[in-house]
Amino acid sequence: MVAAITPVKKILVLGARGMLGHDLQRVFPDAVLRGHDVDITDARKVSETLREIKPELVINAAAYTDVDGCEDHRDHAFAVNGEAPLYLARACRDTGACLVHYSTDYIFDGTQKSYREHDAPRPINAYGESKLLGEKNIRETMEDYRIIRTSWLFGTHGKNFVETMIRLSREMPEVRVVNDQFGKPTYTADLAQKTVEIAGLTPGIYHITNDGICSWFEFAQAIIPNVVPCSTADYPRKAKRPAYSVLVNTKTTPMRPWNEALAAYLKERTT
Ligand SMILES: NC(=O)c1ccc[n+]([C@@H]2O[C@H](COP(=O)([O-])OP(=O)(O)OC[C@H]3O[C@@H](n4cnc5c(N)ncnc54)[C@H](OP(=O)(O)O)[C@@H]3O)[C@@H](O)[C@H]2O)c1
Repeated sequence: MVAAITPVKKILVLGARGMLGHDLQRVFPDAVLRGHDVDITDARKVSETLREIKPELVINAAAYTDVDGCEDHRDHAFAVNGEAPLYLARACRDTGACLVHYSTDYIFDGTQKSYREHDAPRPINAYGESKLLGEKNIRETMEDYRIIRTSWLFGTHGKNFVETMIRLSREMPEVRVVNDQFGKPTYTADLAQKTVEIAGLTPGIYHITNDGICSWFEFAQAIIPNVVPCSTADYPRKAKRPAYSVLVNTKTTPMRPWNEALAAYLKERTT
């Protein structure tokens, strides 16, 4: 069960209807919540919203997260993930608010075994490029920001890998899953709770995931019985994925292992 906190600050959560956004609602119960009614690509609307609500902390969980869709809709990806963070950063800077924003392991190319916060990004797909532009826009515009890079999210309020595996497992005798892409699965409830702590730390970039590394196949094995391994070459996708997008957290205490978080998720989805 996620512990709720009583915030001392006025908080605005954007993208509150998304997978992570829902869990942020639970840990920031007094926050002002906005979904698509505040389109973050509308600079004027963003600025008006901050002037009207006057939050001290803005948490942006809004993004275009369809990795393959970003290849087909590059302009939209760059508008939501790249340019909109500039509007948010300007509005936060001008009103004196702190901005917490989420980014991704996919800003890295996956050729290293792991990535620390200061390692050089080199995205290999449009989603990663657009999210990296969003980071850059925030860093160049304001000082009081926390950029939280995370990976392989699963949560009770969104389409995610765990639900896809459960559905496919029922629909077909064998589910093929790639065994040559490695990362760190992360439960959105844990990430939301950790966001409370990060918001109180010094400005900068944070790598926040559940602990432990696995391949998508190993992740699937922990969810369903009828999974078989395949290679990325056997399962081509529109967007290239990094082979080894492992985020290393050098700044805060680690979160619990991903398999414990998965057990908590599987329990919660059935209750
Ligand atoms: N999911 C992952 O595996 C993953 C991995 C690494 C990092 N992240 C990052 O973590 C954050 C949260 O991800 P998530 O999985 O919770 O995303 P999500 O479930 O896709 O939620 C994103 C929310 O943003 C909304 N949105 C999209 N465009 C918008 C716009 N122009 N204005 C306002 N709202 C808009 C979406 O609404 P609609 O759905 O109605 O468009 C959705 O409610 C994102 O920054 C993402 O890049 C995610």
